[in-house]
Amino acid sequence: MTALQHVKFGTYYVVAVPEADDFDFWRERARGLVQCDVPPDRVAWVEPGGSGNLFSHGDRGLPVPPADAPPVRASKAFVQLARSAICHSDPERFALLYRLLWRLQANPRLLEDGADPDVRRLDELARTVRRDIHKMRAFVRFRLVEDGDEEVGEHYVAWFEPEHHILRANAGFFVRRFANMKWSILTPQGSLHWDGAVLEEGPPARRSDAPSGDPTEDLWRKYYASIFNPARLKIGAMLKEMPRKYWKNMPEAALIPELVAGAQSRESQMVAAGTLEFDEKPDTLEAIDKAIHACRKCPIGSLDNHAVMGEGPQDAALMIVGEQPGDQEDLAGRPFVGPAGQLLDRHLENAGIDRRAVYVTNAVKHFKFVPRGKRRLHQSPTAKEIDTCRWWVESERAIVQPKLVLALGASAARGMLGRTVSISKARGAPIPLEDGSELWVTAHPSYLLRLDGAAREEQSRLFNADLAAVKKRLAELAG
Ligand code: URA
Repeated sequence: MTALQHVKFGTYYVVAVPEADDFDFWRERARGLVQCDVPPDRVAWVEPGGSGNLFSHGDRGLPVPPADAPPVRASKAFVQLARSAICHSDPERFALLYRLLWRLQANPRLLEDGADPDVRRLDELARTVRRDIHKMRAFVRFRLVEDGDEEVGEHYVAWFEPEHHILRANAGFFVRRFANMKWSILTPQGSLHWDGAVLEEGPPARRSDAPSGDPTEDLWRKYYASIFNPARLKIGAMLKEMPRKYWKNMPEAALIPELVAGAQSRESQMVAAGTLEFDEKPDTLEAIDKAIHACRKCPIGSLDNHAVMGEGPQDAALMIVGEQPGDQEDLAGRPFVGPAGQLLDRHLENAGIDRRAVYVTNAVKHFKFVPRGKRRLHQSPTAKEIDTCRWWVESERAIVQPKLVLALGASAARGMLGRTVSISKARGAPIPLEDGSELWVTAHPSYLLRLDGAAREEQSRLFNADLAAVKKRLAELAG
């Protein structure tokens, strides 16, 4: 009897899927079944832990497609949606996908039919899974479990309860994002362990396997309290973005009721304190220094950081503008003292520009970061934050009155111009500023630091050329 006859005489096939999210397995079996012309109502798909033995056929009894069976057709769009949908916890998902694959053979444009219940369900499953993936990325909170032992190093463990089978789908994201940390993510569906080089999968875990409470939680709470903007509070939107079910594993969530309750009074305090509307630009660098420490015009100033004022001679002919202080600048209270600053210093020296004669500052005055373990990771300021901080860098420029301003990178250029320019297009030629001075733009030294090999050499060459052009122009302006 051939496989086809089996079907004709009412045989059911049972496919026991070994892993709940095993798309490749499903695809291989589904293709074979389509090629053997097995209709969807003759296949039972059973996921791990399911009741496979109720049926007479196991996976091994599946029919073998004839050698001349036509290829199975499935559009890229279907494969993409199916890859997501397979991670859904709906036990019917394998059958739905098989039904769709089967129907696609007769109607390759089936997915365009938005009214078809199978197509709609596929969309819904894929959307829900994508949302769950996104929530996991946003709401996993690591806790430190080992500290100090040089052999073992620090180990961060997170407990998370995904709704769907998304742990594996998210593995690449967490490896990339936390490449230098040793971490484990424990879930009721399985666990992931990354030691900085190798990712291993482990068995399901229980909540009690994961630690709760460590010093980084304070950092999270502080961070959350500081970025919480009472004036922007929309409770419905907040609950949609951060549903209550995730709160129990998020240290900062404990603050939410209190922050929400206090939101109205904080908002009125902010209005009363006028945080911070300045009518006139301060007219001394000391006044700017003082004012930026009090500035809370954007949320960055409310993080656990310090304002970093520009430094250098008040009559400098050249003003160099960076993006924002980094971790080391924040601690030292001086611009460009960390790795990017050291690289800048070397290039300035090569170009024959004496940093001591330059006024060095930043477009944004506070360090924007997110906590990761004990470290603070740089975050780029938004265009709005840069525009808000222009008030200060423009105040500095009005006092120093440099002949030439050199902006390092796109954020600095925006800080000077109030609009975005492309560094590759704008570099190498002056942009006139309204007071008759000139703006020159080049790359940010941190960009060079992130490159290596030929790309680093090429960008260093361009950077040197920009500095040489600035040096030449300064000499012309002085002469
Ligand atoms: N990067 C900047 O843009 N500014 C600094 O002060 C340090 C690093």
